[in-house]
Amino acid sequence: MLSDSELKVRKIKDGTVIDHIPAGNALAVLKILNITGREGHTVSIVMNVSSKRLGLKDIVKIEGRELKPDEVNKIALIAPNATINIVRNYQVVEKKSVTLPSEIYDILSCPNPMCVTNANEPVTPRFYVDSESPLRLRCHYCGWFLEREDVLKQI
Ligand code: CTP
Ligand code: ZN
Repeated sequence: MLSDSELKVRKIKDGTVIDHIPAGNALAVLKILNITGREGHTVSIVMNVSSKRLGLKDIVKIEGRELKPDEVNKIALIAPNATINIVRNYQVVEKKSVTLPSEIYDILSCPNPMCVTNANEPVTPRFYVDSESPLRLRCHYCGWFLEREDVLKQI
C-alpha cells in the first residue's frame, strides 16, 4: 500500500531508490556518491517525509542507473540505516542494507595539519572505522580521530 509520503514522488521504472536516509541528509548522500545532476540521469530527492521506522526520512531516486554495493556502502557514514532498492520495470528486484566498509579511502581528509596526507606528498588519506555507533574513524597515518561531526563538516 502506498503511504502519503510515497505519493509525493512517483514510482520509477528502472534505477536505484535509496530509502531511509536520516531526514535532511539526502544532499550529503548525493555528494558522497558524486552525483551532481550533470550526469543526465533523472534524480528525485524527497526530504523530511514521514516514515514508519524513522520519524522523518529522506529518499533519493536515481533513474536509469543501478548502483553497486561497493559504490554505495560509504553512505553508511551518514545514513547507516539506508536501504538500497534496485528497480527494474517498476519492481523492486533487490533490496540491501548499507554496511560501512572497514576502511574509507576517498571523500575524507585528515584534519590534523601535521599529518603526512596534508604535506603535499602524494599520499591518499585512509581511515579505519574504529566504531560505527557512535561513529569514530582513525587516520591510518597519524592516528587522528574523526567523529560524526567531523565527517559531516567535510561533506
Ligand atoms: N520505489 C520506487 N519505484 C518503484 C518501486 C519502489 O520509487 N517502481 C520506491 C518506494 O517508493 C520505496 C522504495 O522504493 O520508497 C522501496 O520500495 P518497496 O520495497 O516497495 O517499499 P517498502 O516495502 O515500504 O520498503 P521497506 O520495507 O524497505 O521500507
Ligand atoms: Zn592523519
